[in-house]
Amino acid sequence: MQKNLSESDVAERVESLLARMSLAEKIGQLNQVGGADFAPGPKAEDQIRAGGAGSVLWLNDTKRFNELQKIAVEESPSGIPLLFALDVIHGYRTIFPAPLAMAASWDPTVPEQAQTVAAREARAAGIHWTFAPMIDIARDARWGRIVEGAGEDPFLGAAMAAAQVRGFQGDDLADPERVLACAKHFAGYGASDGGRDYDPVYLSETQLRNIYLPPFAAAVKAGAATFMSAYMDLNDVPASGNRFLLRRILREEWGFDGFVVSDAFAVGNMVIQGHARDGRDAALRGIKAGVNMDMSSYTYANHVAELVAEGALTIAEIEELVRPILALKVKLGLFERPYVDETLLAQVVARPDHRDAARWAAQRSMVLLKNEGGLLPLKKDIKKIAVIGPLADSMSATEGSWMVFGHQPAAVTVLAGIRAKLPGAEVTYAPGPEIRRDIPSWFESFMAGETRKPPQTPEEAAAAFQLAVESARAADQVIMVLGETDLMSGEAASRASLDLPGRQEELLQAVAALGKPVVLVLLNGRPLSINWAAEHIPAILEAWQPGSEGGHAVADILFGDVNPGGKLPVTFPRKGSHAPLYYARNLTHSPEGSPMYNPRYWDGLPTPLYPFGFGLSYTTFAFSNLQLSAAQVKVGETLTVSVDVTNTGAVAGDEVAQLYIHQRWGSDTRPMRELKGFARITLQPGATQTVTFPLGPDELRYWSTNAGGWIQEPATFDIWVGGDSQATLHTEFEVVA
Ligand code: GLC
Repeated sequence: MQKNLSESDVAERVESLLARMSLAEKIGQLNQVGGADFAPGPKAEDQIRAGGAGSVLWLNDTKRFNELQKIAVEESPSGIPLLFALDVIHGYRTIFPAPLAMAASWDPTVPEQAQTVAAREARAAGIHWTFAPMIDIARDARWGRIVEGAGEDPFLGAAMAAAQVRGFQGDDLADPERVLACAKHFAGYGASDGGRDYDPVYLSETQLRNIYLPPFAAAVKAGAATFMSAYMDLNDVPASGNRFLLRRILREEWGFDGFVVSDAFAVGNMVIQGHARDGRDAALRGIKAGVNMDMSSYTYANHVAELVAEGALTIAEIEELVRPILALKVKLGLFERPYVDETLLAQVVARPDHRDAARWAAQRSMVLLKNEGGLLPLKKDIKKIAVIGPLADSMSATEGSWMVFGHQPAAVTVLAGIRAKLPGAEVTYAPGPEIRRDIPSWFESFMAGETRKPPQTPEEAAAAFQLAVESARAADQVIMVLGETDLMSGEAASRASLDLPGRQEELLQAVAALGKPVVLVLLNGRPLSINWAAEHIPAILEAWQPGSEGGHAVADILFGDVNPGGKLPVTFPRKGSHAPLYYARNLTHSPEGSPMYNPRYWDGLPTPLYPFGFGLSYTTFAFSNLQLSAAQVKVGETLTVSVDVTNTGAVAGDEVAQLYIHQRWGSDTRPMRELKGFARITLQPGATQTVTFPLGPDELRYWSTNAGGWIQEPATFDIWVGGDSQATLHTEFEVVA
């Protein structure tokens, strides 16, 4: 298969395929069948043999892939190969930090490298297409799927989206180590009411255009082959029946030429949502809106032929949706190489560079939230360490949410990482009381993790609590590993509170009362309101869901082999009820700090516990010499911002220089701060580096409600540059007509 087939070659092959396909087969390409037993509908083989399936999902079995592919290629009427698809969100066998964690690296090479490895392993398993990257902006930490995205900011989110698409797809889809990416969930899913997963989303066009769509636009620009339409109602029209999203924005404005798959059963679900009258109506709406492939609801398979027979749909409309599916199968080289070498996976997943990459990604994703009195890094000559907490030795909490079907957790836990780091020390372990969701997750039935054990009795919990306190009393140093289990974030995992679940805080307080030095390591998929810990625990490391090598990476940081440099991609609220809470807000007539300031809640200020962009280091940095290439530019021109960053401490470390702007007036009110540039740099002690950022139309334009379109306008702008969203180093510039 020669690289980079020309578009005309591809088009020619697609047309010749279409010419020999029956209508039933064309409709078959639009049908994605569930490969696992739980998917509804007739057995996968029968549909494939009849040419009634274009793709199979929810199957993770290399041998089975080849069996089904053989039926498609050798027994179906036109022998069109299947696309095998699966959720490979942050690793196939080598698990990388959750996407929210990788966003915390503020280094796009981290997700790009991670998804390159994930693609290589997934493809070796026989998977052609991953349902990733998930690039939903999330400003409500109660929403469980915040873990799967890049946090609250469109500028950071867009950079991470493009990096993941590059990682999955590379620069040539014929490369046998790449997979098709799928930008999801289009669009606005992260803004569901109250952070309640699946609830409706109401967004103005301004919010959609300026906040929720930029990562998707970046994914198209990066060449994302497919998109996934979201479950929920967007302004009362389900995303999978939404022409404004799928035709107007995605195709007409952005020129997207790949294909759209619905979310699971979402075409058929339009009946349940009270939007479509029946399956026939749902099929019509999905096709008209531009959903190419129906994920496992069989609505297209059951109704499109009749809609064509009745004249409600034309064959041309069907063919328009089939073309991009065939084109991508041609580009992937599936016609020449439909089968996977069943010996390949074992070799690929054994590559040591894969685990090295996972450890490196985890090291760069962790965020140091507090380090009072330089407690960290810990000395390696400590004799007795007590590792305490229900997540300290949990492989599933370390690997995190969205493991691929059939994956057996195999992470290096924090406990194992610490023991490996200090073989000579006595490292005890006490889990303390277990933590569980109040309402179990329906995903639990697919997960092999610890959640399947029967719940602890109150007596067992009390005994575990006591044991943990005793283990702390006997130690020189305590490391508490607290947070959330893998199923406490992710899909169908929203929660009203952001507190530490169960009796974790109570245990932390009991241990802290012993007067021993305590370090808190967080394993979690969302911001947590760790107010008490922030006040009373001297050192706190946000480790997120760090993946296969997570325990080693935590130990690398705790004992100083790695200096943490991550920054928060999302605001940490003090309470769940303060959400949605984000930095890029409007000033209002009563801004913070003004004499007119009105505290937004009388029962406590909703100031962030930790702000967007925040993160500490084992060294310190200073920002100085903020310069502009011009004090004034015309609309359409670009100016350059430069700043000096100095490592003012005693050890080498990474800083993330962040650039925020504020347009002081305009057609629309603009947020008090917006991230428009970032760069992670490494500095030796005493060293200074000049960092520069371009500020031009791409950074300064916005979608205006008043103007009804994208505008860049004359105004005065504030600029701040620093190490988080509360940066104080300031200057300003004018944009003139
Ligand atoms: C799920 C998720 C989506 C996933 C799809 C296939 O319900 O919403 O993110 O890719 O179904 O598993």
